[in-house]
Amino acid sequence: MKVLHVSAECYPIAKIGGLADVVGALPKYQKNQGVESSVIMPFYDNKFTNSNHFESIYDSELLLGGISHSFSVLKLQDTDVLDIDVFFIDVPDLLYKDFVYSYDDTDRFLAFQIAFLDWLLTLNKQPSIIHCHDHHTGLVPFMLQESLKYKNLKDIPVVLTIHNAQYQGWFSHDKVSYIPPFDFEKVGLLDWGGVINPLAAGIKCAWAVTTVSPSYMEELQHAANGLESLLSDEKDKCVGILNGIDDEVWNPETDEFIVKNYSARNVHVGRQENKDWLCKEFGLDNEKPLFAFIGRLVGEKGADLLPQAIEIGLESNDINVLVLGSGHKEIEEQLDNLKNKYAGSYNAFIGYDEKLSHIIYASADFLLMPSRVEPCGLNQLYALRYGTVPIVRRVGGLKDTVIDIGDGGFGICHNETSVHDIVFSIERATQFYKKTTAFKKVKKVMMDIDHSWNASAKKYLKLYKSLN
Ligand code: ADP
Ligand code: GLC
Repeated sequence: MKVLHVSAECYPIAKIGGLADVVGALPKYQKNQGVESSVIMPFYDNKFTNSNHFESIYDSELLLGGISHSFSVLKLQDTDVLDIDVFFIDVPDLLYKDFVYSYDDTDRFLAFQIAFLDWLLTLNKQPSIIHCHDHHTGLVPFMLQESLKYKNLKDIPVVLTIHNAQYQGWFSHDKVSYIPPFDFEKVGLLDWGGVINPLAAGIKCAWAVTTVSPSYMEELQHAANGLESLLSDEKDKCVGILNGIDDEVWNPETDEFIVKNYSARNVHVGRQENKDWLCKEFGLDNEKPLFAFIGRLVGEKGADLLPQAIEIGLESNDINVLVLGSGHKEIEEQLDNLKNKYAGSYNAFIGYDEKLSHIIYASADFLLMPSRVEPCGLNQLYALRYGTVPIVRRVGGLKDTVIDIGDGGFGICHNETSVHDIVFSIERATQFYKKTTAFKKVKKVMMDIDHSWNASAKKYLKLYKSLN
């Protein structure tokens, strides 16, 4: 079986969030299970593309709103990077930028999808499955089904994974002519609520739709940013498959980013060495419990509540807090402003830093995830793997992966994304930290859980087989 993943992100090539981690890991695990898996993504101007080698395998042109854009398909030559084939769509004037997402994403990702299908038409051997990820690739199922140009590809089963239904890629009907010609009676397949909605079109036209946790699949029936009734109508072809983690990248025994490697056997000593380094670096007290937040500073993650919750938490408990993230300017500023007031027990790195994130997972005692929406969430899985107790709101994938210590589990859970619940959880955690034996025991328990992709890759394989 030959599976081609189509995505805007893939770790370590280009990463904004968890989408990259999934697309950088699942294909590797599929390969280990005998599936010939590869990835196709845009060619960005970044550190990775500037320091690796690529072979040009196809050149052509595409039309977008009457304007012609030349494009090439490139293949990554350094095969050791991911251990699978990675292809790139290079549209120099649209995609080759030093960012992944921008204001003109409609044109950029339309070009990506059209160039991809144009190239696919020229291949002798087609994939047995096309696996699309998120709205950036959501028009592929429609174009395969309806665009006259691609009628020879019509029989390839296409799976769409929704990583986050908050973002749908909406654009106005005046750009419908950018999509290669189709029977105009079918324009309704592209429309949702009077605009072109790539995610909705993908849900309608894909052969199967997956989301990244079973609970999120259920939640989408009631809360899908306007797509509730569509997801409810299409529920027979939808399934929730929990994300896994890349056990090779996220392994405290071998992780090259962290200060001291460790396993469940020497978790306390190993983690303390990482924590000592981190606390020194950020001017924190290594004897106090360390609470961390890593992520996008947006409402979905509950980040708008962090400044107030952190302030109350610091006032009423003897703790440290460290934030790593970027996003809304207002939240960034508020989190930055706390630095002076709580110097010595609070710090923040506003920005993106992959290495620092690994060190935090290896050091922090608790990881805060008060998400309003969390389709899966990978941070809590990395935290578990590294022995950091996750503090999560019971939502989406967080609900599916974290069991509260009060229920015999290894995390701290709360029901609402509210300052009250976050502060209360910080207090519970602080008390738990003092129960040294129980706190130490729980680390070993959570580090032993297998959250690798092995089990979920099998579920995807079963799904693919049901479509072939
Ligand atoms: P989402 O994709 O919604 O942002 P996930 O939990 O699925 O959330 O994945 C987030 C990924 O991005 C994780 O690998 C996390 O460690 C990483 N990450 C998020 N923000 C930062 C940051 N500021 N610096 C480094 N890594 C980050
Ligand atoms: C999205 C979701 C996140 C999920 C990730 C990978 O970014 O917000 O919850 O873990 O995709 O599937």
